[in-house]
Amino acid sequence: MEFLPVSDESLLRAAQVINSGGIVAFPTETVYGLGANAYDSAAAAKVFEAKRRPFFDPLIIHIASVETLNEAANLSLLTEETRLKLSLLIKNFMPGPLSIVLPKSEKIPGIVTAGLPTAAFRFPANETAQKLISLSSGAVAAPSANLFGALSPTRAEHVRDSLGGEVDIILDGGQSQIGLESTVLDLTGGGVKILRHGGAPKEAIENIIGSVQDLTNTENDTAESLSSPGRLKSHYAPKTPLSVFNLEDIICKPFEENSAWLFFDGVSHNAWKSAHTQQSREGAVKVLSPCGNLPEAASCLFEILHELDNSSFAKIYAQFAPQYGLGAAINDRLKRASAL
Ligand code: TXA
Ligand code: MG
Repeated sequence: MEFLPVSDESLLRAAQVINSGGIVAFPTETVYGLGANAYDSAAAAKVFEAKRRPFFDPLIIHIASVETLNEAANLSLLTEETRLKLSLLIKNFMPGPLSIVLPKSEKIPGIVTAGLPTAAFRFPANETAQKLISLSSGAVAAPSANLFGALSPTRAEHVRDSLGGEVDIILDGGQSQIGLESTVLDLTGGGVKILRHGGAPKEAIENIIGSVQDLTNTENDTAESLSSPGRLKSHYAPKTPLSVFNLEDIICKPFEENSAWLFFDGVSHNAWKSAHTQQSREGAVKVLSPCGNLPEAASCLFEILHELDNSSFAKIYAQFAPQYGLGAAINDRLKRASAL
């Protein structure tokens, strides 16, 4: 494995590796991805193996030009109304943190989409990701670069620590700015459906194309019933047991010396502090955003979870974020992190 800072030279090497069937971890503005040539089934198989990802969980295809959709998707299968919505979504969210599920073209091998006739497409805004995609196959299949079910990586070091022995190159592009995976939106079948909350808030999408159906409720999910396996209940989980509560419930919990607390904002942290005067362990109390700013909170969620998870606490108590904007994605990840 080569761990390389981003440069023209390392980008060229990484592109060569992708073109010759290898796998490369690369930065995007959401989380780090583990990429392979999306037109190469043997290369895509390596991604599943490296992540220990079940073959029923499809990969997202990353593009660096909207024109690639003409090749990798089959847009002729969409109704005129859906095509209109797609063009509005492209205009507003590509590049950006939105993955759009569309009918796939014959060029995309079945392994990439787990046998589905559809594929999720994302045009990342991160410049390194765009260059890597353009310099290589133009369509790069990439899930998040973590072991299946584990916390997503927001730094190259996170990838090195969990998948270092499995990948050919890790491109180090620093910390991911958004810090949460893309929103997954399904445009196939009737209507528009959100399959996963993420970096593009539902409200922002509805402002552009009108109301969308929310299929992200995790209550009754089973592997069979899921149209998007990223909706599996236990996903994005730290090794340390985590539970998530409203502030009042966290305040009611008795203090525990070996536990960690993760608050949404400074006001909540202060409220808890005035109810618990005991000395907590160093690094045991974290605040996602002192002033309650949702993008800031989203950008450090996985970062802080990685840190707490590596500090041998017995438990993590986390507070829900407000349930709007990026808060929906933050709460979704916290709920999944808490499912045992
Ligand atoms: O921000 C992101 O989306 C990151 C970066 C690397 O782009 N990628 C990512 O990939 O989070 P992954 O594999 O961890 O999650 C992809 C999600 C899964 O929930 C998967 O089931 C869903 O997208 N997905 C992919 N193709 C699909 C399809 N054809 N139909 C429905 N869901 C699909
Ligand atoms: Mg993932």
